[in-house]
Amino acid sequence: MDKALLELRDVSKRFVKPLDTAARIAKAFGAKREAEVVHAVDHANLSIQSGEVVGLVGESGCGKSTLGRMAVGLHTLSSGTRCWQSEDMAQLSGSELRRRQLAMQMIFQDPYASLNPRMRIQDIVGEAPLAHGMTTRVEQKDYVASLLQKVGLDPALVRRFPHQFSGGQRARIGIARALAVQPELLVCDEAVAALDVSIQAQVLNLFIELRNELKLTYLFISHDLGVVRHISDRVVIMYLGRIVESSPTAELFAQANHPYTSALLASAPKLEVKKIDFVAVKGEIPSPLHPPSGCHFHPRCPHAMPRCSVEQPVLKEIAPQHYSACHLNDVV
Ligand SMILES: Nc1ncnc2c1ncn2[C@@H]1O[C@H](COP(=O)(O)OP(=O)(O)OP(=O)(O)O)[C@@H](O)[C@H]1O
Ligand SMILES: [Mg+2]
Repeated sequence: MDKALLELRDVSKRFVKPLDTAARIAKAFGAKREAEVVHAVDHANLSIQSGEVVGLVGESGCGKSTLGRMAVGLHTLSSGTRCWQSEDMAQLSGSELRRRQLAMQMIFQDPYASLNPRMRIQDIVGEAPLAHGMTTRVEQKDYVASLLQKVGLDPALVRRFPHQFSGGQRARIGIARALAVQPELLVCDEAVAALDVSIQAQVLNLFIELRNELKLTYLFISHDLGVVRHISDRVVIMYLGRIVESSPTAELFAQANHPYTSALLASAPKLEVKKIDFVAVKGEIPSPLHPPSGCHFHPRCPHAMPRCSVEQPVLKEIAPQHYSACHLNDVV
């Protein structure tokens, strides 16, 4: 197999949620209160080949954005290794690190929130390439105009402010801003979720065109299976901070292996986050440390939950390029 462009090896991310005021006061009076540790990502492995489009799917809170942010370096790793073309990013510093960091960019869920309302498009899109010496102040306007053209916007609009654009246009500005530093990998976090269906299709087609034109690689995060099916070569399913299945797209939709993937596919037309019927340990958010108390996804699993709760199923290759982490695969 080709050398991976980006590889996350056994990565985890833990967040400590500090106590709120009431809990701090209760603690001061002797109540047993400890800061909660959220295991957002737990021992995940993800490898993305150059030119590949990988869709990352899972319900709300399963750790998709956290993993995406770890991929581009916006979150540090609590443990594990992040490699760019087999080089451990933690071993790099200075200009070497900056050069590789620029090669991976993130496109956010809400373009409006991530665009400074007081800045003109020329500065929003042209700020980073100017700072990194990819263009000069004199050339900036033309540089930005060519990027706007690339994403299907009128280059004459460079002097406008974000509020003067529609939602679809703002999504395109977000894409232009990411492309401005000539990245190789784009992590798109729910990049079309806020758009109307018709505009969504246009922006998805733009992503596909740009991929071909600029030889881009994508990690496409979404809870919309239709979107992911449309754009991805491979789909990775995340559940409670872990990757439970990874498969070429057509095979995943035809022959899902993991019970959770099957549940996700079955609920696809009405997939709404947080609606999957968890039986969480009372008062705790489901996470790798607090899994739901019963295997809802496969009640007939001969091993059922007791084995899952004491022994994590590992990702195994069950068909070429198709990996799944389920004890069911151990049953002959
Ligand atoms: N900065 C943070 N501090 C504390 N907890 C966090 C932080 N970021 C994320 N989390 C927690 O980590 C878990 C995973 O969050 P994440 O945003 O990665 O989920 P997600 O799969 O992207 O969800 P969604 O589909 O709703 O965007 C959640 O329980 C969330 O509350
Ligand atoms: Mg998210």
